[in-house]
Amino acid sequence: MNSQNTERPRKSSMDTRRDFIKKSVMVCAALSLPLTFAESGRALPRELKIRNPKRALILCYSQTGFTSRYGKLIACILKEKGITADLADMRKYDKKHISDYDLILVGSPVFYYDIPPNVSGFLTAMPKISGIPVASFVSYGGPEGNQYNALCHMLRLLNDAGGAAVGMAAFRSIPSYPTPNWDSANQRAGEHLPDASTYRQVRSFTEQLIERISRGESIIYESEITVREILRTLPLIWFNKKAITKHTVDGEKCIGCQACVKQCPVGAIHPEKQFVDRDRCVACFGCLNNCPADAVVMEYTGKRLYGFPEYLKRRKITILEPAEFQSYRL
Ligand SMILES: Cc1cc2nc3c(=O)[nH]c(=O)nc-3n(C[C@H](O)[C@H](O)[C@H](O)COP(=O)(O)O)c2cc1C
Ligand code: SF4
Ligand code: SF4
Repeated sequence: MNSQNTERPRKSSMDTRRDFIKKSVMVCAALSLPLTFAESGRALPRELKIRNPKRALILCYSQTGFTSRYGKLIACILKEKGITADLADMRKYDKKHISDYDLILVGSPVFYYDIPPNVSGFLTAMPKISGIPVASFVSYGGPEGNQYNALCHMLRLLNDAGGAAVGMAAFRSIPSYPTPNWDSANQRAGEHLPDASTYRQVRSFTEQLIERISRGESIIYESEITVREILRTLPLIWFNKKAITKHTVDGEKCIGCQACVKQCPVGAIHPEKQFVDRDRCVACFGCLNNCPADAVVMEYTGKRLYGFPEYLKRRKITILEPAEFQSYRL
């Protein structure tokens, strides 16, 4: 492949500046709003039709492997309890099989205080699962406290499909958000995660879930997002996209493996054309974090970024796997 940069022609610098100033003014206005405008959503408790689930589906979306690792551990624990558990990648899942299950768990990473658009899109198109127990879990990189919104968002969509909410949980991990040296305070603080205590949390969440279902209890949760919070988080992606000063594919290095294409939640990367559709891109870094050939070229405010596998290699980090993975094959 040749290394020509085929990025689309961009707006004139004058237009871009005008755009930037306009949006910055909106953001500043948003941040000064009072906290009293609140939009809240109390999910309706649904009657649980199942007390003794026999077959569970754990559906995950995962870019750097943390969410699917927690999903796999949940599947192992359910198996120990005599429940058949299937772990599936949301991106490849055919929804027509959903009616085969009597317990459904959905896992996602937290991206920009919420779930990625492909996860919400998948859940919005869920077939009816009336009375089936449902639970959500997320993996996150901190700081703690902003994960509840993502958990509620998933449960609300599962609830809309008729599922009865029985649990939600957030499990911490290394933040997969690339910074030029991967040494933000968050990354330093989370570098050893998941540890034994994270895995204990996963075990206790799964056990509580099963106990709650056997008692026929669903949970009531209330999502309350202030307008100020919404306006504070919405421009995050926009600001990050502005800070990404270069995003393309190096055709000399690209080995055509398609990992970036498979990871991209919005179909924005075309390695064969060395083209990234930056209007579509949601700045999730999935392409960078999964390219095995260092061929995804991204610069953040002019500084070259490298992806998650390279970060693990440079820091000599080995991620701890739970003991259950040695005895269970899924
Ligand atoms: C683009 C991006 C945005 C993120 N935003 C948040 C966030 O708002 N809050 C948070 O706690 N972690 C955030 N993270 C960290 C991820 O949620 C965390 O690393 C997660 O475990 C990744 O899961 P995965 O390995 O399954 O993809 C973000 C990571 C990326 C790449
Ligand atoms: S092009 Fe890369 S950063 Fe943009 S949305 Fe796709 S995977 Fe994410
Ligand atoms: S992941 Fe990297 S090597 Fe594979 S197709 Fe994409 S850019 Fe090319």
